[in-house]
Amino acid sequence: MIFTVAVDGPAAAGKGTISKRLAAELGLAHLDTGLLYRAVGARVLGGEEAAAAARGLVPADLDRPGLRQPAIADAASRVAALPEVRRALLEFQRAFARREGGAVLDGRDIGTVICPEAEAKLYVTASAEARAARRHAEQVAAGEAQPLEAVLAEVVARDARDTGRADAPMRAAADAVVIDTTDLGIEEAVARALEIVRGRL
Ligand code: DC
Repeated sequence: MIFTVAVDGPAAAGKGTISKRLAAELGLAHLDTGLLYRAVGARVLGGEEAAAAARGLVPADLDRPGLRQPAIADAASRVAALPEVRRALLEFQRAFARREGGAVLDGRDIGTVICPEAEAKLYVTASAEARAARRHAEQVAAGEAQPLEAVLAEVVARDARDTGRADAPMRAAADAVVIDTTDLGIEEAVARALEIVRGRL
């Protein structure tokens, strides 16, 4: 069986959690494509040129410590605007998406560019304020909180960069089902997502 689920949307809207749960419940493989851009960003912060870093990416890069840090998220969103970087990561993502057994991919351009033919597409979003509050709460729990205003400013800046770039900007595919998690608990959001995707199986 080849069955691709594309899950797109901005940071901290819940798409990572939803994607992991979809993959676990439906027995599909899962790829967090943001990790690819984060790994390239980490190599660039280490002094490498972006396109060369993307072409030279190896699986061990995805296990690097610290890929979730804000500085790396920022670098990821910068390298993600470079067409050569996106091109270097394209085939790996497409091959993963069409693997036997089916797959869930989450990112920004899965339903629009990587897998326009995906059998199910979701766009998971929430207000910038709700997303910043969640990120902030995660930071507080981890004991490394920035002020809430700084987190909100970062969320807004990253959204602007991800939606404003010319190559594969973040947007919902015309045939994606939108799930707005601003006022939705994560369990409700997962249940909605499962119901939508099961309807396409
Ligand atoms: O989902 P994330 O926060 O880990 O993504 C980090 C950055 O990578 C994000 O700001 C934009 C970029 N990205 C992208 O351009 N396309 C994707 N499919 C996934 C992530």
